[in-house]
Parts: sequence; structure tokens; C-alpha cells
Amino acid sequence: MSKTININNKKEVIILDQRLLPFKVKYIRTKDYKTVIKAIKNLSVRGAPAIGVAGAFAAYLASEKFKTLNNIDKLLEKKLNEIILARPTAVNLQWAVKRFLKILKNKEFKSLLDLKGKFLKESKKIYNEEKNVSELISKNGSRLIKNNDNILTHCNTGALATTGIGTAFGIINKSNKIKKNINLFATETRPLNQGSRLTTWEARKNNIKCFLITDSMAAHIIKTEKINIIIVGADRIASNGDTANKIGTYQLAISALYHQIPFYVAAPLSTFDLDTKNGQEIVIEERSSNEIIFLNNEKITNHKNVKNPAFDITPSNLITGIITEKGIIYKPNKSKIKKILT
Ligand code: MRU
Repeated sequence: MSKTININNKKEVIILDQRLLPFKVKYIRTKDYKTVIKAIKNLSVRGAPAIGVAGAFAAYLASEKFKTLNNIDKLLEKKLNEIILARPTAVNLQWAVKRFLKILKNKEFKSLLDLKGKFLKESKKIYNEEKNVSELISKNGSRLIKNNDNILTHCNTGALATTGIGTAFGIINKSNKIKKNINLFATETRPLNQGSRLTTWEARKNNIKCFLITDSMAAHIIKTEKINIIIVGADRIASNGDTANKIGTYQLAISALYHQIPFYVAAPLSTFDLDTKNGQEIVIEERSSNEIIFLNNEKITNHKNVKNPAFDITPSNLITGIITEKGIIYKPNKSKIKKILT
């Protein structure tokens, strides 16, 4: 499987351009942190953990711009904050970049060379952490899956969205290797089709039996195909367990409750945000209306009033459990989340 993002020996960041998948496998190579910011903004690299890693590599590249330590605390801080602003909802981005801000603010370096070395080391550490964590999430979550399960997922949460096996998709992938007759139902995930373009691609590569459905088919499919379990990813989990994930997640959680099937969120601890009290405080990214009014580069309507929120909030009381690298938080709430994070 192609690596979603990495850094090579020449210290170039290599990003698999997910906008072109599944038909073109093309990489963006860069030594410029601004190109990484652009790649985050235009979704060449996407998925909360992968965005965090991209932010980390961008932070390292930003440090490489400096020839002297003069005023570096202010000037580099400005660049790091620029990276944080690339996308607002996935907290992994600021979680990662804050680790570089800490090195900078605490002056944990002896020279400019030392600073750049520490930034490079930290970015590779974040890359490896996210890789290991997705393996643990997949292991913990696969215990929930039984032979013959029909699983529904939304958006893309596989290797493309992380530096490892994935979160929700990682669980499905691992389960498919150890259980019999697993059927996956993947929503197309309008408007950017992460489900139909990316999840079905990853399913084929991993020999997972996968049925592609449109988002509006979900409730009908849950009922008629006897879906046993829904597993999705997360972009930010507030301290009370309210979860931001790809637009369309909330309606799946409501459907799960109505049909009395479990609804799980799979996410690393880096996706939790204790500074955010609840879902209402999470900033939802509003993207360009062009993503909706154009289809295959053709305008399909002249309509002007369009809404395009990229994420929605699923309240914690609709979540059966959150699958993390440290185990599953059943009926998530503030005290259980605080406990697992400390
Ligand atoms: O806009 P995207 O494609 O970055 O949104 C991705 C999602 O919503 C994923 O479900 C989430 O980031 C988890 S990825 C492991």
C-alpha cells in the first residue's frame, strides 16, 4: 500500500495526492512548509491522524527556512500558527504543532542546527506514534467483530488517513483477516467521495468484501441488510465525548439507535480535546459551495444558497463506545475520558 505521507533521506516531504485517487497514484514532493499547508487545505492529505503528521512535517520544514536564531521564537511561532490554521476541525493538527511550539517556547535547543534536528526528530516521532497507535486501535476494536458481521462505515479511515493500518477501517481490515464472512458497507461520503474513491480502493487492496452505497441509502441498508455494527472515525472528541466526524456521521448514529445496533467511534487519544467542553464548542469547517454545485467539473445548478459543512457533531449519548489505543471507553463521558487521558 502506498504511504500516505512520509519524509525521505533528502528531507523532502512526500505526500500521496489523494485528490487523484483511485485512478492516479501521484506524489507531491516538497521542502516548502507552505506546500504542505496547501496540501492539507485542498485535501491532498486528509484524515485527522494524517493531517497531524502533515502538520508535524510542515513544522520541521518551516524550521529549515531559518539561517539564524535572531528573533526565531516570534518568527517561527508565526509560521507554526499558520500551519495550525490550515484546517479547523481535526484537532490532531494543533495537537501535533503544539509539540513544536513547546520545544520553541521552552528553548529546548542549543543552536539553530540543534533546533532543526529536534524538529525533525519530533516529526518522525509523531509519524511513528500514529502508526503504532492505529495498530493498537485495530487490535482493540477487532474484538468487537464476529463472524458474518455486516459492518457499516463512513468516509475514509484507513491507511490513507493515518500512517498505519487505520482506525475504523483498520479494525475492519484486521477483523477481515481473522473472522469469516465479513461484509463491509461503505457510504460514498458526498461531496468529496472519500468513501467511493478511497475506502472502496483500500477495501479492494485488502480483499475486503465491500458494498458501496450512497449516503442517503444508509438507513434503508441498515434495516434491509441487517447491519450489526457501525464504526466511524473522528476529527475531534470534546471532553464530554461529543464527537466531530465527517458530515453524515450524526444521522448514522441516530439510525443506529433507532435500529438498536451499536455505534462505535475509533480514534487515537490525539483526537481528544480536553479544552473543548462539548460539541457546540467545536468549529465546523465550512467548505466551498463549488464542491456541491460542480459534479465532474460541470456545474449542475446555478443555485446560490448552498451550505457545505464538512463535519457534524454526534452527541456522546448516541455513542456505544470510543475505541482507542488504550482500550474502549463505553458510554463515554467526562470522567471516563479524563481518566484515560491521564
Ligand atoms: O475531510 P476529511 O477527509 O479529512 O475527513 C476525514 C474524516 O472525517 C475521518 O473520518 C476522520 O478524520 C478520521 S480518519 C482516521
